[in-house]
Amino acid sequence: MHRIIIDTDPGQDDAVAILTALASPEDFDVLGICTVAGNVPLELTTHNALQLVELAKSDVKVYAGCSRPMVKDLVTAEYVHGPTGLDGANLPLPTRTAERQHAVDFMIETLHAAEPHSVTLCTLGPLTNVGMALVRAPEVVESIAGIVSMGGGFFEGGNVTPAAEFNIYVDPHAADVVFRSGVPVTLLPLDVTHQALASAERVEPFGGLGTTAGTCVAGMLTYFDRYDMDKYGTTGAPLHDPTVIAFLMQPELFAGKRCHVEIVREGPAEGMTMVDWWGVTGNEPNALVIHEVDADAFFALLLNRISRL
Ligand code: RIB
Ligand code: CA
Repeated sequence: MHRIIIDTDPGQDDAVAILTALASPEDFDVLGICTVAGNVPLELTTHNALQLVELAKSDVKVYAGCSRPMVKDLVTAEYVHGPTGLDGANLPLPTRTAERQHAVDFMIETLHAAEPHSVTLCTLGPLTNVGMALVRAPEVVESIAGIVSMGGGFFEGGNVTPAAEFNIYVDPHAADVVFRSGVPVTLLPLDVTHQALASAERVEPFGGLGTTAGTCVAGMLTYFDRYDMDKYGTTGAPLHDPTVIAFLMQPELFAGKRCHVEIVREGPAEGMTMVDWWGVTGNEPNALVIHEVDADAFFALLLNRISRL
């Protein structure tokens, strides 16, 4: 059982990750969902998270977080996710609002009250909230079991510049705080997510569930597919964020290597995750960098859990 806080910028792929976690009470005690500006502005990522907990019939609370990165101006990705951030499905309107407490305050308060190394942070978007929590209350490191983060890329390069993946690019300064914090990080970069393509054959079974959740997931992934299929010429878009949740559920589906990762904060390569894959720097590894996934088993796991909703 993992006690987790999900930090997210929904985003169709975030949505599948969140729904999978909420459908898996045997694996997760979801302490809260924190939203951050990323794919779309904070107001929309928060509204989207509230729609998803409504769809899952979950009472997990949603906390709105930072509306912009620590230093840089906000860069969003409506060109991928659509103007709402969750285009492709008619999700139920929320019957709840976000909590009044700021997401960073919720994180710090929850971690202060937690046993040592007992809470896992699952980050699906820019790391602004987590970075701010670590700057404001560095002692919370003691309560964190690990940070499992979708972000970065090395052998696959970047998806928003030749060097940088979107989540890290949006807030490289927050990412730098996280990777230098000493917290055990598991990084799921483009190198592994690009092996998990949401092809039509893998998306259709969600629609075949005949459930509202299944139909919403199929619609969101069909919309999400279009941009990356055109960009990469592949049979589907990489399904990035659910790899974070699946890694915690079935780590045996993945393979990785402990490496030192440095975040480039300024200049033409800003947002790059400089992964010392061959250990040439002599720096102590600070992350488990995942580079392989059993994609068929990954999608089977997602379908199995989403079918419960
Ligand atoms: O680069 C992929 C990441 O950026 C995913 O988390 C996606 O949701 C976007 O936030
Ligand atoms: Ca995301």
